[in-house]
Amino acid sequence: MPLKLAGGAISALLCLSLTATLFATVGAEDPYRFFEWNVTYGDIYPLGVRQRGILINGQFPGPDIHSVTNDNLIINVYNSLDEPFLISWNGIQQRHNSFEDGVYGTTCPIPPRRNFTYILQVKDQIGSFYYFPSLAFHKAAGGFGGIRILSRPRIPVPFPDPADDYTVLIGDWYKSNHTTLKAHLDGGKKLPFPDGILINGRGPNQFSLTFEQGKTYRLRISNVGLQNSLNFRIQDHKMKLVEVEGTHTLQTTYSSLDVHVGQSYSVLVTADQPGHDYYIVASSRFTTPVLTTTGILHYSNSGGQVSGPPPGGPTIQIDWSLNQARSIRTNLTASGPRPNPQGSYHYGLINTTKTYILASSAGQVSGKQRYGVNSVSFIPADTPLKLADYFKIPGVFRVGSISDRPTGGGLYLDTSVLGADYRAFVEIIFQNDEDIVQSWHLDGYQFFVVGMDGGTWTVASRNEYNLRDAVARSTVQVYPSSWTAIYVGLDNVGMWNLRTEFWARQYLGQQLYLRVYTASTSIRDEYPIPKNARTCGRASGRRTRPF
Ligand SMILES: *[C@@H]1O[C@H](CO)[C@@H](O)[C@H](O)[C@H]1NC(C)=O
Ligand SMILES: *[C@@H]1O[C@H](CO)[C@@H](O)[C@H](O)[C@H]1NC(C)=O
Ligand SMILES: *[C@@H]1O[C@H](CO)[C@@H](O)[C@H](O)[C@H]1NC(C)=O
Ligand SMILES: *[C@@H]1O[C@H](CO)[C@@H](O)[C@H](O)[C@H]1NC(C)=O
Ligand SMILES: *[C@@H]1O[C@H](CO)[C@@H](O)[C@H](O)[C@H]1NC(C)=O
Repeated sequence: MPLKLAGGAISALLCLSLTATLFATVGAEDPYRFFEWNVTYGDIYPLGVRQRGILINGQFPGPDIHSVTNDNLIINVYNSLDEPFLISWNGIQQRHNSFEDGVYGTTCPIPPRRNFTYILQVKDQIGSFYYFPSLAFHKAAGGFGGIRILSRPRIPVPFPDPADDYTVLIGDWYKSNHTTLKAHLDGGKKLPFPDGILINGRGPNQFSLTFEQGKTYRLRISNVGLQNSLNFRIQDHKMKLVEVEGTHTLQTTYSSLDVHVGQSYSVLVTADQPGHDYYIVASSRFTTPVLTTTGILHYSNSGGQVSGPPPGGPTIQIDWSLNQARSIRTNLTASGPRPNPQGSYHYGLINTTKTYILASSAGQVSGKQRYGVNSVSFIPADTPLKLADYFKIPGVFRVGSISDRPTGGGLYLDTSVLGADYRAFVEIIFQNDEDIVQSWHLDGYQFFVVGMDGGTWTVASRNEYNLRDAVARSTVQVYPSSWTAIYVGLDNVGMWNLRTEFWARQYLGQQLYLRVYTASTSIRDEYPIPKNARTCGRASGRRTRPF
Protein backbone atom coordinates (compact mmCIF):
# COMPACT_ATOMS: atom_id res chain seq x y z
CA MET A 1 0.00 0.00 0.00
CA PRO A 2 1.58 3.31 -1.03
CA LEU A 3 1.09 5.03 2.32
CA LYS A 4 3.68 7.09 4.08
CA LEU A 5 4.03 6.98 7.84
CA ALA A 6 3.35 10.68 8.07
CA GLY A 7 0.27 10.43 10.24
CA GLY A 8 -1.63 12.83 8.01
CA ALA A 9 -4.41 12.22 5.57
CA ILE A 10 -3.27 11.34 2.07
CA SER A 11 -5.03 11.41 -1.22
CA ALA A 12 -8.10 9.26 -1.40
CA LEU A 13 -7.34 8.40 -5.01
CA LEU A 14 -4.53 6.06 -4.05
CA CYS A 15 -6.81 3.90 -2.08
CA LEU A 16 -10.09 3.70 -3.92
CA SER A 17 -9.63 0.08 -4.84
CA LEU A 18 -8.71 -0.79 -1.28
CA THR A 19 -11.71 1.01 0.13
CA ALA A 20 -14.03 -0.65 -2.34
CA THR A 21 -13.08 -4.09 -1.06
CA LEU A 22 -12.57 -3.48 2.64
CA PHE A 23 -15.01 -0.82 3.59
CA ALA A 24 -18.15 -1.54 1.67
CA THR A 25 -20.49 -0.66 4.53
CA VAL A 26 -19.30 2.89 5.22
CA GLY A 27 -20.72 5.85 3.31
CA ALA A 28 -18.90 5.19 0.07
CA GLU A 29 -19.87 8.51 -1.47
CA ASP A 30 -18.30 10.48 1.37
CA PRO A 31 -14.61 11.45 1.37
CA TYR A 32 -11.93 9.22 2.89
CA ARG A 33 -8.99 10.25 5.04
CA PHE A 34 -6.21 7.77 5.72
CA PHE A 35 -3.92 7.65 8.73
CA GLU A 36 -0.99 5.35 9.50
CA TRP A 37 -0.11 5.36 13.18
CA ASN A 38 2.81 3.64 14.87
CA VAL A 39 2.35 3.36 18.63
CA THR A 40 5.65 3.13 20.53
CA TYR A 41 7.15 3.73 23.93
CA GLY A 42 9.46 6.71 24.17
CA ASP A 43 11.10 8.92 26.76
CA ILE A 44 9.16 12.05 27.72
CA TYR A 45 10.01 14.68 30.35
CA PRO A 46 6.80 16.67 30.93
CA LEU A 47 7.53 17.42 34.60
CA GLY A 48 11.30 17.49 34.27
CA VAL A 49 11.90 13.82 35.03
CA ARG A 50 12.32 11.08 32.46
CA GLN A 51 9.27 8.90 31.98
CA ARG A 52 8.27 6.18 29.58
CA GLY A 53 5.45 7.66 27.50
CA ILE A 54 3.22 6.24 24.78
CA LEU A 55 3.89 8.02 21.49
CA ILE A 56 2.02 7.99 18.20
CA ASN A 57 4.33 8.50 15.22
CA GLY A 58 6.89 9.73 17.74
CA GLN A 59 4.58 12.41 19.15
CA PHE A 60 3.28 13.11 22.64
CA PRO A 61 0.43 14.02 22.61
CA GLY A 62 -0.48 12.13 19.44
CA PRO A 63 -1.34 13.84 16.13
CA ASP A 64 -4.67 15.62 15.75
CA ILE A 65 -7.32 14.17 13.49
CA HIS A 66 -8.80 16.85 11.24
CA SER A 67 -12.02 15.88 9.48
CA VAL A 68 -15.27 17.17 8.01
CA THR A 69 -18.80 15.93 8.77
CA ASN A 70 -19.45 12.50 7.20
CA ASP A 71 -15.78 11.80 6.37
CA ASN A 72 -14.66 8.19 6.50
CA LEU A 73 -11.55 7.90 8.68
CA ILE A 74 -9.36 4.90 7.94
CA ILE A 75 -6.82 4.68 10.75
CA ASN A 76 -4.27 1.87 10.63
CA VAL A 77 -2.79 1.47 14.12
CA TYR A 78 0.44 -0.53 14.55
CA ASN A 79 1.00 -1.66 18.11
CA SER A 80 4.75 -1.51 18.73
CA LEU A 81 4.30 -1.81 22.52
CA ASP A 82 4.96 -5.03 24.40
CA GLU A 83 1.35 -5.32 25.56
CA PRO A 84 -2.12 -5.42 23.94
CA PHE A 85 -3.42 -2.01 22.93
CA LEU A 86 -6.61 -0.28 21.76
CA ILE A 87 -7.57 3.30 20.96
CA SER A 88 -11.08 4.60 21.60
CA TRP A 89 -12.71 7.78 20.25
CA ASN A 90 -14.38 9.94 22.89
CA GLY A 91 -17.58 11.39 21.47
CA ILE A 92 -17.32 9.86 17.99
CA GLN A 93 -20.61 8.05 17.59
CA GLN A 94 -19.66 5.08 15.34
CA ARG A 95 -23.21 4.97 14.02
CA HIS A 96 -24.45 1.40 13.58
CA ASN A 97 -20.91 0.24 14.21
CA SER A 98 -19.92 -0.34 17.84
CA PHE A 99 -17.32 -2.85 16.55
CA GLU A 100 -14.97 0.10 15.92
CA ASP A 101 -15.39 1.66 19.35
CA GLY A 102 -12.04 0.41 20.59
CA VAL A 103 -12.97 -0.47 24.15
CA TYR A 104 -12.65 -3.84 25.88
CA GLY A 105 -16.30 -4.78 25.34
CA THR A 106 -16.44 -4.15 21.60
CA THR A 107 -13.06 -4.77 20.00
CA CYS A 108 -10.32 -7.38 20.41
CA PRO A 109 -7.04 -5.85 21.61
CA ILE A 110 -4.32 -5.34 19.00
CA PRO A 111 -1.58 -7.81 20.04
CA PRO A 112 2.04 -6.56 20.30
CA ARG A 113 3.68 -6.13 16.87
CA ARG A 114 0.32 -6.35 15.06
CA ASN A 115 -1.95 -3.74 13.54
CA PHE A 116 -5.64 -3.03 13.20
CA THR A 117 -7.32 -0.64 10.78
CA TYR A 118 -10.18 1.28 12.36
CA ILE A 119 -12.89 2.25 9.88
CA LEU A 120 -14.89 5.12 11.34
CA GLN A 121 -17.35 7.52 9.85
CA VAL A 122 -17.95 10.87 11.55
CA LYS A 123 -21.55 10.70 10.37
CA ASP A 124 -23.69 13.75 11.10
CA GLN A 125 -21.19 15.15 13.59
CA ILE A 126 -19.33 18.42 14.07
CA GLY A 127 -17.19 19.61 16.94
CA SER A 128 -14.29 18.89 19.25
CA PHE A 129 -13.38 15.50 20.66
CA TYR A 130 -10.32 13.40 21.46
CA TYR A 131 -9.01 9.86 21.25
CA PHE A 132 -7.23 7.93 23.99
CA PRO A 133 -5.83 4.45 24.74
CA SER A 134 -8.52 2.47 26.52
CA LEU A 135 -6.76 -0.57 28.03
CA ALA A 136 -4.49 -1.25 31.00
CA PHE A 137 -4.15 2.32 32.33
CA HIS A 138 -2.23 3.32 29.18
CA LYS A 139 -3.98 6.69 29.34
CA ALA A 140 -1.61 7.65 32.18
CA ALA A 141 1.29 7.44 29.69
CA GLY A 142 -0.13 9.41 26.72
CA GLY A 143 -1.45 7.98 23.46
CA PHE A 144 -4.17 10.66 23.32
CA GLY A 145 -4.80 13.44 20.83
CA GLY A 146 -7.44 15.84 19.53
CA ILE A 147 -10.19 15.14 17.00
CA ARG A 148 -11.95 17.97 15.21
CA ILE A 149 -14.88 17.67 12.83
CA LEU A 150 -15.48 20.79 10.75
CA SER A 151 -18.83 21.66 9.18
CA ARG A 152 -19.29 20.88 5.51
CA PRO A 153 -18.52 23.92 3.33
CA ARG A 154 -22.07 25.09 2.71
CA ILE A 155 -23.39 24.60 6.24
CA PRO A 156 -23.40 27.93 8.13
CA VAL A 157 -21.25 28.11 11.26
CA PRO A 158 -22.60 30.63 13.79
CA PHE A 159 -19.39 32.68 14.07
CA PRO A 160 -16.78 34.04 11.66
CA ASP A 161 -13.85 31.84 10.67
CA PRO A 162 -11.17 32.19 13.34
CA ALA A 163 -7.64 33.27 12.35
CA ASP A 164 -6.44 29.88 13.58
CA ASP A 165 -7.74 26.88 15.46
CA TYR A 166 -5.77 25.11 18.24
CA THR A 167 -6.19 21.88 20.19
CA VAL A 168 -5.50 22.40 23.90
CA LEU A 169 -5.35 19.14 25.86
CA ILE A 170 -5.23 19.69 29.60
CA GLY A 171 -5.03 17.08 32.32
CA ASP A 172 -3.57 16.04 35.63
CA TRP A 173 -0.33 14.04 35.42
CA TYR A 174 1.81 11.62 37.39
CA LYS A 175 5.57 11.23 37.39
CA SER A 176 5.10 7.47 37.82
CA ASN A 177 4.84 5.36 34.69
CA HIS A 178 1.57 3.65 33.83
CA THR A 179 2.80 0.21 34.87
CA THR A 180 3.57 1.50 38.37
CA LEU A 181 0.17 3.20 38.67
CA LYS A 182 -1.57 0.10 37.36
CA ALA A 183 0.29 -2.13 39.83
CA HIS A 184 -0.84 0.22 42.59
CA LEU A 185 -4.50 -0.20 41.56
CA ASP A 186 -4.12 -3.94 40.98
CA GLY A 187 -2.77 -4.11 44.52
CA GLY A 188 -6.07 -2.79 45.82
CA LYS A 189 -5.05 0.79 46.53
CA LYS A 190 -6.58 4.11 45.46
CA LEU A 191 -4.95 6.38 42.90
CA PRO A 192 -2.62 8.85 44.67
CA PHE A 193 -2.81 12.64 44.26
CA PRO A 194 -1.30 13.76 40.92
CA ASP A 195 2.11 15.43 40.61
CA GLY A 196 1.10 18.22 38.25
CA ILE A 197 -1.00 19.43 35.33
CA LEU A 198 0.02 19.37 31.67
CA ILE A 199 -1.08 21.56 28.77
CA ASN A 200 -0.55 19.71 25.47
CA GLY A 201 1.91 17.38 27.16
CA ARG A 202 4.04 20.20 28.58
CA GLY A 203 4.76 21.24 32.14
CA PRO A 204 4.90 24.77 33.63
CA ASN A 205 5.61 27.52 31.04
CA GLN A 206 6.65 24.95 28.43
CA PHE A 207 3.55 25.42 26.28
CA SER A 208 2.94 28.59 24.28
CA LEU A 209 0.56 29.96 21.65
CA THR A 210 1.19 32.97 19.43
CA PHE A 211 -1.64 35.36 18.56
CA GLU A 212 -1.63 38.35 16.25
CA GLN A 213 -3.00 41.59 17.68
CA GLY A 214 -6.69 42.07 16.91
CA LYS A 215 -7.35 38.58 15.59
CA THR A 216 -9.70 35.95 17.01
CA TYR A 217 -8.68 32.33 17.59
CA ARG A 218 -10.52 29.14 18.40
CA LEU A 219 -9.24 26.92 21.21
CA ARG A 220 -10.58 23.36 21.51
CA ILE A 221 -10.00 22.46 25.14
CA SER A 222 -10.33 18.86 26.31
CA ASN A 223 -9.60 17.45 29.75
CA VAL A 224 -7.66 14.24 28.99
CA GLY A 225 -6.52 13.78 32.59
CA LEU A 226 -7.19 10.89 34.93
CA GLN A 227 -9.42 12.35 37.58
CA ASN A 228 -9.46 16.07 38.30
CA SER A 229 -11.83 18.76 37.11
CA LEU A 230 -9.73 21.71 35.90
CA ASN A 231 -10.42 25.42 35.59
CA PHE A 232 -9.01 27.02 32.42
CA ARG A 233 -8.38 30.75 31.97
CA ILE A 234 -6.18 33.26 30.17
CA GLN A 235 -4.83 36.34 31.92
CA ASP A 236 -6.77 39.54 30.99
CA HIS A 237 -8.68 37.74 28.20
CA LYS A 238 -12.30 36.65 27.91
CA MET A 239 -13.39 33.39 26.32
CA LYS A 240 -16.55 33.15 24.24
CA LEU A 241 -17.97 29.63 24.42
CA VAL A 242 -19.16 28.46 20.99
CA GLU A 243 -19.29 24.68 21.03
CA VAL A 244 -19.50 21.79 23.48
CA GLU A 245 -18.90 18.21 22.27
CA GLY A 246 -20.65 18.76 18.97
CA THR A 247 -23.32 21.32 19.92
CA HIS A 248 -23.13 25.00 19.02
CA THR A 249 -23.90 26.82 22.25
CA LEU A 250 -25.32 30.20 23.14
CA GLN A 251 -22.24 32.37 22.79
CA THR A 252 -21.71 33.31 26.41
CA THR A 253 -18.52 35.02 27.55
CA TYR A 254 -16.61 33.62 30.52
CA SER A 255 -13.42 34.70 32.26
CA SER A 256 -12.73 31.08 33.22
CA LEU A 257 -14.21 27.71 32.38
CA ASP A 258 -14.53 24.48 34.36
CA VAL A 259 -13.59 21.48 32.22
CA HIS A 260 -14.42 18.22 33.96
CA VAL A 261 -12.45 15.11 33.17
CA GLY A 262 -13.35 13.77 29.73
CA GLN A 263 -15.10 16.95 28.53
CA SER A 264 -14.40 19.14 25.48
CA TYR A 265 -15.21 22.84 24.90
CA SER A 266 -14.49 25.30 22.07
CA VAL A 267 -13.95 28.96 22.88
CA LEU A 268 -13.08 32.03 20.82
CA VAL A 269 -10.38 34.32 22.22
CA THR A 270 -9.62 37.73 20.71
CA ALA A 271 -6.14 39.22 21.04
CA ASP A 272 -7.58 42.56 22.19
CA GLN A 273 -5.07 43.47 24.91
CA PRO A 274 -1.81 45.47 24.78
CA GLY A 275 0.90 43.56 22.93
CA HIS A 276 2.83 41.51 25.47
CA ASP A 277 2.70 37.99 26.92
CA TYR A 278 -0.06 36.58 29.14
CA TYR A 279 -0.45 33.50 31.29
CA ILE A 280 -2.61 30.59 30.22
CA VAL A 281 -3.65 28.79 33.42
CA ALA A 282 -5.11 25.40 34.26
CA SER A 283 -5.74 24.62 37.93
CA SER A 284 -7.39 21.77 39.76
CA ARG A 285 -10.92 22.20 41.11
CA PHE A 286 -12.24 20.84 44.42
CA THR A 287 -8.81 19.70 45.65
CA THR A 288 -6.56 20.61 48.56
CA PRO A 289 -3.90 21.55 47.72
CA VAL A 290 -4.78 23.23 44.42
CA LEU A 291 -2.49 22.19 41.57
CA THR A 292 -1.75 24.92 39.01
CA THR A 293 0.17 25.05 35.78
CA THR A 294 0.78 27.86 33.34
CA GLY A 295 1.49 28.26 29.65
CA ILE A 296 2.20 31.44 27.70
CA LEU A 297 -0.01 33.38 25.30
CA HIS A 298 2.48 35.33 23.23
CA TYR A 299 1.44 38.29 21.04
CA SER A 300 3.44 38.38 17.79
CA ASN A 301 4.06 42.10 18.47
CA SER A 302 4.88 41.38 22.10
CA GLY A 303 6.79 44.10 23.87
CA GLY A 304 7.31 42.19 27.10
CA GLN A 305 7.19 38.99 29.08
CA VAL A 306 4.43 37.79 31.38
CA SER A 307 4.01 39.94 34.43
CA GLY A 308 2.30 39.68 37.79
CA PRO A 309 1.05 36.50 39.36
CA PRO A 310 -1.01 34.17 37.16
CA PRO A 311 -4.73 35.02 37.53
CA GLY A 312 -6.53 33.11 40.26
CA GLY A 313 -9.66 31.08 39.62
CA PRO A 314 -12.35 29.24 41.53
CA THR A 315 -11.01 26.41 43.71
CA ILE A 316 -13.51 24.60 45.91
CA GLN A 317 -16.71 26.51 45.05
CA ILE A 318 -19.39 24.12 43.78
CA ASP A 319 -22.23 26.62 43.23
CA TRP A 320 -20.02 28.63 40.87
CA SER A 321 -19.48 25.53 38.76
CA LEU A 322 -23.14 24.47 38.88
CA ASN A 323 -24.27 27.93 37.78
CA GLN A 324 -21.78 27.93 34.94
CA ALA A 325 -22.98 24.46 33.86
CA ARG A 326 -26.59 25.64 33.82
CA SER A 327 -25.65 28.65 31.67
CA ILE A 328 -24.26 26.37 28.93
CA ARG A 329 -27.15 25.97 26.48
CA THR A 330 -27.84 25.12 22.88
CA ASN A 331 -28.21 27.95 20.38
CA LEU A 332 -31.50 26.75 18.91
CA THR A 333 -31.21 28.87 15.77
CA ALA A 334 -27.66 27.81 14.85
CA SER A 335 -26.99 24.99 12.41
CA GLY A 336 -25.53 21.73 13.63
CA PRO A 337 -24.01 19.16 11.24
CA ARG A 338 -27.00 19.71 8.94
CA PRO A 339 -28.31 23.05 7.67
CA ASN A 340 -31.47 22.97 9.78
CA PRO A 341 -31.38 24.66 13.19
CA GLN A 342 -30.34 22.51 16.14
CA GLY A 343 -33.65 23.33 17.83
CA SER A 344 -35.71 21.52 15.22
CA TYR A 345 -35.46 18.29 17.23
CA HIS A 346 -37.83 18.92 20.11
CA TYR A 347 -36.45 16.52 22.68
CA GLY A 348 -38.57 18.15 25.38
CA LEU A 349 -41.83 17.05 23.73
CA ILE A 350 -40.94 13.36 23.55
CA ASN A 351 -42.16 11.18 26.41
CA THR A 352 -39.48 9.03 27.99
CA THR A 353 -40.38 5.35 28.18
CA LYS A 354 -37.93 4.25 30.85
CA THR A 355 -35.90 5.71 33.70
CA TYR A 356 -32.55 4.29 34.77
CA ILE A 357 -31.12 5.49 38.07
CA LEU A 358 -27.39 4.85 38.29
CA ALA A 359 -25.68 5.44 41.61
CA SER A 360 -21.96 5.19 42.12
CA SER A 361 -20.65 2.63 44.57
CA ALA A 362 -17.19 2.53 46.14
CA GLY A 363 -15.84 0.00 48.58
CA GLN A 364 -13.72 -3.04 49.16
CA VAL A 365 -14.23 -6.42 47.54
CA SER A 366 -12.03 -9.20 48.96
CA GLY A 367 -9.86 -6.61 50.66
CA LYS A 368 -9.22 -4.57 47.51
CA GLN A 369 -10.49 -1.15 46.52
CA ARG A 370 -13.21 -1.40 43.85
CA TYR A 371 -15.76 0.97 42.33
CA GLY A 372 -19.11 0.20 40.75
CA VAL A 373 -22.54 1.26 39.59
CA ASN A 374 -25.67 0.10 41.47
CA SER A 375 -23.48 -2.24 43.54
CA VAL A 376 -21.90 -4.01 40.55
CA SER A 377 -18.19 -3.59 39.92
CA PHE A 378 -17.53 -4.42 36.28
CA ILE A 379 -15.06 -7.17 35.39
CA PRO A 380 -14.21 -8.10 31.79
CA ALA A 381 -15.30 -11.48 30.49
CA ASP A 382 -12.92 -13.62 28.39
CA THR A 383 -14.47 -12.37 25.11
CA PRO A 384 -15.50 -8.88 23.96
CA LEU A 385 -19.22 -8.60 24.66
CA LYS A 386 -20.08 -7.34 21.20
CA LEU A 387 -18.38 -10.32 19.58
CA ALA A 388 -20.13 -12.74 21.93
CA ASP A 389 -23.40 -11.09 20.99
CA TYR A 390 -22.65 -11.14 17.26
CA PHE A 391 -21.53 -14.77 17.15
CA LYS A 392 -24.21 -15.79 19.69
CA ILE A 393 -21.66 -17.30 22.08
CA PRO A 394 -23.55 -18.11 25.28
CA GLY A 395 -22.31 -17.62 28.81
CA VAL A 396 -20.15 -14.52 28.23
CA PHE A 397 -22.59 -11.96 29.66
CA ARG A 398 -26.16 -11.67 30.82
CA VAL A 399 -28.43 -8.77 29.90
CA GLY A 400 -29.81 -7.50 33.17
CA SER A 401 -26.71 -8.43 35.17
CA ILE A 402 -27.05 -5.00 36.76
CA SER A 403 -30.17 -3.44 38.24
CA ASP A 404 -31.61 -0.32 36.59
CA ARG A 405 -31.76 1.38 39.97
CA PRO A 406 -29.74 1.29 43.19
CA THR A 407 -30.27 -1.84 45.26
CA GLY A 408 -28.60 -0.70 48.45
CA GLY A 409 -26.69 -4.00 48.55
CA GLY A 410 -22.96 -4.48 48.97
CA LEU A 411 -20.51 -4.15 46.08
CA TYR A 412 -19.82 -7.33 44.06
CA LEU A 413 -18.05 -8.23 40.80
CA ASP A 414 -19.87 -9.06 37.54
CA THR A 415 -19.80 -8.32 33.80
CA SER A 416 -22.58 -5.73 33.95
CA VAL A 417 -24.77 -5.26 30.87
CA LEU A 418 -27.93 -3.18 30.92
CA GLY A 419 -30.55 -3.94 28.27
CA ALA A 420 -32.25 -1.23 26.22
CA ASP A 421 -34.57 -1.14 23.23
CA TYR A 422 -33.57 0.41 19.94
CA ARG A 423 -35.47 3.66 19.37
CA ALA A 424 -36.58 3.99 22.99
CA PHE A 425 -36.28 7.48 24.44
CA VAL A 426 -34.96 7.13 27.97
CA GLU A 427 -34.09 9.14 31.05
CA ILE A 428 -30.90 8.34 32.95
CA ILE A 429 -30.29 9.76 36.41
CA PHE A 430 -26.74 9.80 37.77
CA GLN A 431 -27.00 9.91 41.55
CA ASN A 432 -23.83 10.88 43.39
CA ASP A 433 -23.92 10.39 47.15
CA GLU A 434 -20.16 10.78 47.48
CA ASP A 435 -18.20 13.95 48.25
CA ILE A 436 -16.31 14.12 44.95
CA VAL A 437 -17.26 15.47 41.53
CA GLN A 438 -17.98 12.66 39.08
CA SER A 439 -17.91 12.69 35.31
CA TRP A 440 -19.87 10.18 33.19
CA HIS A 441 -19.51 9.34 29.53
CA LEU A 442 -21.71 7.31 27.16
CA ASP A 443 -20.17 5.98 23.94
CA GLY A 444 -22.24 5.99 20.75
CA TYR A 445 -24.46 8.92 21.68
CA GLN A 446 -24.96 12.57 22.36
CA PHE A 447 -27.48 13.05 25.19
CA PHE A 448 -29.43 16.05 26.47
CA VAL A 449 -28.35 17.30 29.89
CA VAL A 450 -31.82 18.20 31.17
CA GLY A 451 -31.01 18.90 34.81
CA MET A 452 -28.59 18.85 37.70
CA ASP A 453 -29.00 19.83 41.33
CA GLY A 454 -28.04 19.01 44.89
CA GLY A 455 -29.62 16.23 46.96
CA THR A 456 -31.31 13.01 45.97
CA TRP A 457 -33.25 12.86 42.71
CA THR A 458 -37.02 12.34 43.03
CA VAL A 459 -39.81 12.45 40.43
CA ALA A 460 -40.42 16.04 41.59
CA SER A 461 -36.92 16.91 40.33
CA ARG A 462 -38.38 16.69 36.81
CA ASN A 463 -40.16 19.99 37.45
CA GLU A 464 -36.84 21.81 37.15
CA TYR A 465 -35.69 20.14 33.91
CA ASN A 466 -34.65 22.31 30.98
CA LEU A 467 -36.86 20.91 28.21
CA ARG A 468 -36.07 23.70 25.77
CA ASP A 469 -32.39 24.35 25.10
CA ALA A 470 -30.34 21.84 27.11
CA VAL A 471 -26.95 21.12 25.61
CA ALA A 472 -26.43 17.77 23.82
CA ARG A 473 -23.04 16.21 24.65
CA SER A 474 -21.44 12.92 25.61
CA THR A 475 -19.73 13.60 28.97
CA VAL A 476 -21.42 15.16 31.98
CA GLN A 477 -20.40 15.99 35.52
CA VAL A 478 -22.29 15.20 38.71
CA TYR A 479 -21.52 17.39 41.70
CA PRO A 480 -20.97 16.00 45.21
CA SER A 481 -24.19 14.82 46.93
CA SER A 482 -26.08 15.76 43.77
CA TRP A 483 -27.80 14.31 40.72
CA THR A 484 -27.62 14.93 36.98
CA ALA A 485 -30.40 13.86 34.58
CA ILE A 486 -30.01 13.15 30.87
CA TYR A 487 -32.37 12.19 28.04
CA VAL A 488 -31.08 9.80 25.39
CA GLY A 489 -32.74 8.80 22.13
CA LEU A 490 -31.48 5.24 21.63
CA ASP A 491 -31.15 5.38 17.84
CA ASN A 492 -27.78 3.61 17.61
CA VAL A 493 -27.81 -0.19 17.89
CA GLY A 494 -24.76 -1.69 19.57
CA MET A 495 -22.87 -2.47 22.75
CA TRP A 496 -22.00 0.89 24.27
CA ASN A 497 -19.68 1.63 27.17
CA LEU A 498 -21.16 3.80 29.93
CA ARG A 499 -18.32 4.77 32.25
CA THR A 500 -16.88 7.17 34.71
CA GLU A 501 -14.09 9.27 33.18
CA PHE A 502 -12.27 9.15 36.54
CA TRP A 503 -9.80 6.66 35.14
CA ALA A 504 -8.83 4.67 38.23
CA ARG A 505 -12.50 4.16 39.01
CA GLN A 506 -13.16 3.07 35.44
CA TYR A 507 -10.23 0.63 35.66
CA LEU A 508 -11.53 -0.71 38.99
CA GLY A 509 -15.06 -1.41 37.77
CA GLN A 510 -17.11 1.80 37.57
CA GLN A 511 -18.50 1.14 34.11
CA LEU A 512 -21.05 -1.02 32.34
CA TYR A 513 -22.29 -1.71 28.85
CA LEU A 514 -25.62 -0.56 27.47
CA ARG A 515 -26.82 -3.11 24.93
CA VAL A 516 -29.11 -1.29 22.53
CA TYR A 517 -30.90 -4.11 20.80
CA THR A 518 -33.17 -4.79 17.86
CA ALA A 519 -34.23 -8.11 16.39
CA SER A 520 -33.76 -6.59 12.92
CA THR A 521 -30.68 -7.74 11.04
CA SER A 522 -30.91 -4.97 8.41
CA ILE A 523 -27.64 -3.10 7.80
CA ARG A 524 -29.69 0.07 8.05
CA ASP A 525 -29.86 -0.68 11.77
CA GLU A 526 -26.43 -2.19 12.39
CA TYR A 527 -23.47 -2.92 10.15
CA PRO A 528 -22.15 -6.48 10.09
CA ILE A 529 -18.83 -7.18 11.77
CA PRO A 530 -15.98 -5.52 9.82
CA LYS A 531 -14.12 -7.82 7.45
CA ASN A 532 -10.80 -7.06 9.13
CA ALA A 533 -12.09 -7.49 12.70
CA ARG A 534 -9.71 -9.35 14.97
CA THR A 535 -11.22 -12.22 16.90
CA CYS A 536 -10.16 -13.34 20.37
CA GLY A 537 -11.32 -15.21 23.47
CA ARG A 538 -14.16 -17.61 22.73
CA ALA A 539 -14.64 -15.85 19.38
CA SER A 540 -11.11 -16.84 18.25
CA GLY A 541 -11.03 -18.11 14.72
CA ARG A 542 -14.68 -17.29 14.04
CA ARG A 543 -15.08 -16.22 10.45
CA THR A 544 -16.05 -12.62 10.04
CA ARG A 545 -17.07 -12.17 6.43
CA PRO A 546 -15.35 -13.33 3.25
CA PHE A 547 -13.61 -10.58 1.26
C1 LIG B 1 7.37 1.71 14.59
O1 LIG B 1 8.45 2.37 15.22
C2 LIG B 1 9.46 1.48 15.68
C3 LIG B 1 10.45 2.28 16.47
O2 LIG B 1 10.88 3.38 15.76
C4 LIG B 1 10.08 0.77 14.50
O3 LIG B 1 11.06 -0.15 14.95
C5 LIG B 1 9.00 0.02 13.74
O4 LIG B 1 9.51 -0.54 12.57
C6 LIG B 1 7.87 0.96 13.36
N1 LIG B 1 6.77 0.20 12.81
C7 LIG B 1 6.15 0.56 11.68
C8 LIG B 1 5.03 -0.31 11.25
O5 LIG B 1 6.47 1.55 11.06
C1 LIG C 1 -2.71 -4.20 8.84
O1 LIG C 1 -2.14 -3.32 7.89
C2 LIG C 1 -2.22 -3.78 6.54
C3 LIG C 1 -1.50 -2.79 5.67
O2 LIG C 1 -0.21 -2.59 6.13
C4 LIG C 1 -3.65 -3.93 6.14
O3 LIG C 1 -3.74 -4.47 4.84
C5 LIG C 1 -4.37 -4.85 7.11
O4 LIG C 1 -5.75 -4.88 6.78
C6 LIG C 1 -4.19 -4.37 8.53
N1 LIG C 1 -4.76 -5.35 9.44
C7 LIG C 1 -5.92 -5.18 10.07
C8 LIG C 1 -6.33 -6.30 10.96
O5 LIG C 1 -6.61 -4.18 9.98
C1 LIG D 1 -27.17 31.82 17.61
O1 LIG D 1 -26.91 31.48 16.28
C2 LIG D 1 -27.34 32.48 15.37
C3 LIG D 1 -27.31 31.87 13.96
O2 LIG D 1 -26.03 31.58 13.55
C4 LIG D 1 -26.47 33.70 15.57
O3 LIG D 1 -26.83 34.70 14.65
C5 LIG D 1 -26.67 34.20 16.99
O4 LIG D 1 -25.78 35.25 17.25
C6 LIG D 1 -26.41 33.10 18.00
N1 LIG D 1 -26.88 33.58 19.29
C7 LIG D 1 -26.18 33.45 20.41
C8 LIG D 1 -26.76 34.06 21.64
O5 LIG D 1 -25.15 32.83 20.47
C1 LIG E 1 8.33 2.22 35.88
O1 LIG E 1 8.66 2.79 37.14
C2 LIG E 1 9.22 1.84 38.06
C3 LIG E 1 9.39 2.55 39.40
O2 LIG E 1 10.12 3.74 39.24
C4 LIG E 1 10.54 1.31 37.51
O3 LIG E 1 11.06 0.34 38.38
C5 LIG E 1 10.27 0.67 36.15
O4 LIG E 1 11.48 0.27 35.56
C6 LIG E 1 9.56 1.66 35.22
N1 LIG E 1 9.23 0.95 34.00
C7 LIG E 1 9.58 1.40 32.81
C8 LIG E 1 9.27 0.47 31.70
O5 LIG E 1 10.10 2.48 32.63
C1 LIG F 1 -46.88 12.19 26.38
O1 LIG F 1 -47.64 11.75 27.48
C2 LIG F 1 -48.74 12.60 27.78
C3 LIG F 1 -49.38 12.13 29.09
O2 LIG F 1 -49.52 10.75 29.09
C4 LIG F 1 -49.73 12.57 26.59
O3 LIG F 1 -50.81 13.42 26.86
C5 LIG F 1 -48.98 13.06 25.36
O4 LIG F 1 -49.83 12.97 24.22
C6 LIG F 1 -47.72 12.26 25.11
N1 LIG F 1 -46.95 12.89 24.05
C7 LIG F 1 -46.43 12.22 23.02
C8 LIG F 1 -45.66 13.02 22.02
O5 LIG F 1 -46.58 11.02 22.87
